[in-house]
Amino acid sequence: MQVILCDSAEHVGKRAADIVEDYVRAGSAVLGLATGGSPSSTYRELIRRHREESLGFSDVRAFTLDEYAGLAPDHEQSYHTTIRREFVDHVDLPLENLMTPQGDVSDLAAEAERYDAAIGAAGGVDVQILGIGANGHIGFNEPTSSLSSRTRVKTLAGTTRRDNARFFSDGEVPRLCLTQGLGTIREARTALLVAMGANKAEAVRAMVEGPVSAHCPASVLQLHRRAVVILDPDAASLLS
Ligand code: F6R
Repeated sequence: MQVILCDSAEHVGKRAADIVEDYVRAGSAVLGLATGGSPSSTYRELIRRHREESLGFSDVRAFTLDEYAGLAPDHEQSYHTTIRREFVDHVDLPLENLMTPQGDVSDLAAEAERYDAAIGAAGGVDVQILGIGANGHIGFNEPTSSLSSRTRVKTLAGTTRRDNARFFSDGEVPRLCLTQGLGTIREARTALLVAMGANKAEAVRAMVEGPVSAHCPASVLQLHRRAVVILDPDAASLLS
């Protein structure tokens, strides 16, 4: 696991964008996209490079990490809408190349299986952008998730629902989600995790310096052949 320390969120975004750009410029990249606050500076930097440095996404395919169960793709808080608003609608990535698990289907288990197979059929993810939850989750693989799990239905932890209530005007966060599994995430050729802020420091410490354990799902990245962790000073503050 490579750990890169940066002096600000903007700097984190630039270093992460450098890695994504290498894949995009190589052609026909498959990106794995996280939502949430952590990758915002990365997406802002990629959008800037698209506008000012002709970084093109027209042959890129993208898979989001997860989706809330019960929300239609066009729901304001669905991850499909969120990733469009934060990134995809600002670059030339064709909408038909954006894949998200569909949260409003009746058979969620079948949808999870279909999504996992679609990632495989696309040749797998080249670079998976990740954030980390304060409880150590990646995707929505909450503590005690199997380290070899595939895309599946999960119950969100109470802490995660509280953390994400800020994005919902009524504070009502769905209880279930579809998430790529830890085994699925581990197959990405590069795992690129960005973390900012003191509330992530304990989870970052457990991920980088703790044992590989389902109690900190992100620790599975210690086993990854190319995991890059990019941190601001607050997120790195508990590392020895
Ligand atoms: C989002 C996701 C989550 C977030 C994590 C951190 O697609 O899968 O694992 O990356 O909850 O969220 P933020 O970045 O909002 O602190």
